[in-house]
Order: sequence, then structure tokens, then C-alpha cells
Amino acid sequence: MRSLSDQQIKTFLTIFPKAKRDEPLAPYTYLKIGGPAQLYFEAKGADDLVGAIESAKAQNIPWYVFGGGSNVLVSDDGFRGLVIRYLDSTFTVRERTVSAAAGASTVTVAKAAAEAGLTGFEWGTTVPGTIGGAIYGNAGCFGGEMKDIVVTVDAYDPEAAKYVALPKLQCKFAYRDSLFKHKPLVILKTLLALTPSDKERVQAKVAELQEKRRQTQPQGELSAGCMFKNFEFKSEADLDILKRQGDSIPEEMLKRKSISAGWLVDKLGLKGMRVGAAKVSEVHGNFIVNSGGARAQDILQLTSLIKMKVRDELGIMLEDEVQLVGF
Ligand code: EPU
Repeated sequence: MRSLSDQQIKTFLTIFPKAKRDEPLAPYTYLKIGGPAQLYFEAKGADDLVGAIESAKAQNIPWYVFGGGSNVLVSDDGFRGLVIRYLDSTFTVRERTVSAAAGASTVTVAKAAAEAGLTGFEWGTTVPGTIGGAIYGNAGCFGGEMKDIVVTVDAYDPEAAKYVALPKLQCKFAYRDSLFKHKPLVILKTLLALTPSDKERVQAKVAELQEKRRQTQPQGELSAGCMFKNFEFKSEADLDILKRQGDSIPEEMLKRKSISAGWLVDKLGLKGMRVGAAKVSEVHGNFIVNSGGARAQDILQLTSLIKMKVRDELGIMLEDEVQLVGF
């Protein structure tokens, strides 16, 4: 990616004087890794957000809308363009629906829904990041995912320069995937539908899932969540090489036709493997942690090594779940 010219930067700053130059992105990420954005702008509302994108477009400035930073790896060189953070974190819970702006924290919204005695989003109380990011990646855990509860997504389409309201079906949600990963739409807001239930029962479920998360995933360490997607297989023939390794594949994975990447990494004895300060978590094989001062390059080298080993020894190609920014 080419650097922005001084002229591009100055023109943008004239229109958006609150934008910043060379803003370090590491503090906005859970991994605490990444170089600066040449231009950085915090949009308070949709008008600001769309205005900044239109301005960037007019000057050929590459742009990227940052979510909560919980599922991204930012390059050590940062982003040569405009990074926008959308700060609208408003949401309302009304009867059985929740309307939430893309910048709202998933945990906060899910907690409020639980507090109102609504069931269906308890799992969200354990998912870091923003609602926009959760929609983008169809986030999910413990049997729930965004696609189960989304009714509509309001977005901005920069190619057509217009606002769109997409019903769930048009969002093309699939396992850790959505239309938004394939078309540059900017998620602004969503409407979720939940089911009224008994508040105590909902709170008990929240507590149970939070405990499960504490027991099975690293706590208090810097990570971007799961690095790889689980391997969804079509037929058991895709597992031939893995099966030749002897150990049996857990029944639950065969049943759901998806092999957990963390289990594969663990099976190969790769927990604790390091490149520089990037380390495969000792707790869960699909987490890579920054053990202090890791660079994006360390993380990428470690993920490449893991992919190679899993491919060579188990015949499975792992795919990234984490979003790469600025590479
Ligand atoms: N396992 C191991 N060793 C490991 C990790 C897992 O043996 O190092 C085994 C576990 O014992 C269990 C099985 O693998 O029998 C599945 O593990 P887990 O329940 O932790 O689920 P997962 O498939 O590894 C997925 C999601 C997580 C989500 C959990 C819980 C993906 C890539 N990961 O992990 O999502 O929190 O289920 O529902 O889909 C994320 O997307 O960032 C993420 C963390």
C-alpha cells in the first residue's frame, strides 16, 4: 500500500480538523500490536462516519472502519490510509427487541438484554468487541451466533452512495462470515429479536457461560480471540490423514461436521510454541497471545508455522478467523 501524500492528508484535515495524523493503533487492539494510521478519525454519529468515508473516497484515500479491536491483527507498519472508529454506542431494549448502534459494546448490550429478562443473547456477555464487529464476523459461541437474533442491519453503501436496510437473509450470514466481509458496506445499526423469559434463568445462564469461558479460554492475556476458523468438512474423506493419526476424533466434532482448530493445534503438541513474544496459549490452542512486546510479524510467522504443521501432519488447511489490517 502506498503512503498518502501530504496533500491528501492536509485536504482531509481541513475538512475534518479533529482527525489525527500518525495515530498509533496498538492501543485500540486487544493484542496491543500494530503501527500507526496515517489518518485517524473518531466519528460520533452516522453523518460524521459517512462524511469521512465520502471525503476519503473523493481523494482516493483507502479507508477502514475499526470495530472494538478484539478480532484484528494490525500490521507493524500500520495503515496507510484513514482509520475510522465509530463511537455511537447507543442502544435501546424495547419489549422483545434490541436496537443497537454498531459502536455499542457487545457485552454491554447483551448484559442489558439479560437484565430485561430476554433470552437468546446470553452468550454475547462473553464476547469482546462491538456490535458492528459481531455482525461483520457473525460472532458466536456456546451454540449461539448473531445470525440467530438479527432482524435487520442498517448500513451505508459507499459504492452506491446510499443508506441500505438489509433484512437478515440479505446479510448472507454463515459460519464466521457475512456479506459485510465481501462487500464494503459500513454497518451502522442493527435490530435484534430475542425471547422474553424468566430473568433469574437468563442471569443463571449468563453466569454459567461466563464461567465456561473462564475455564476454557485464556484470561488476562493479550489475544485476538480464536486465530483460525474451525475446519468444516464436507465428508469424512476430508479427514483421512487426521484419522490415520490414531487418536479418535471427538464424537461432538464429527456430529457437527466441524473440527476445532484448537483441538488440532493441541493434538500436535504446539501449545506454548513461540516466535519472538508471540506464543500459542497454554490454555487453548486456537489463541495466540502477546506475551509482551510481540510484533505483528511474530504473530504471522507463528500462525504460518501452525498452518504448515496442521497441513503437513493432519492434511487440513486452517483459515484465518482474525482480520488482517494494513498488510
Ligand atoms: N480442545 C482441546 N484443546 C484445546 C482447545 C480445545 O482439546 O487447546 C477441545 C476442547 O476440550 C473441546 C473441543 O476442543 O472438546 C472444542 O473446544 P471449545 O469448546 O473451546 O470450542 P472451539 O471449537 O475451540 C469455538 C469458537 C470460539 C467459542 C467456543 C465456545 C471458533 C473458531 N471458535 O471454539 O470462538 O468461544 O467455540 O463456543 O469457532 C472466537 O471466535 O474468537 C472464539 C473464541
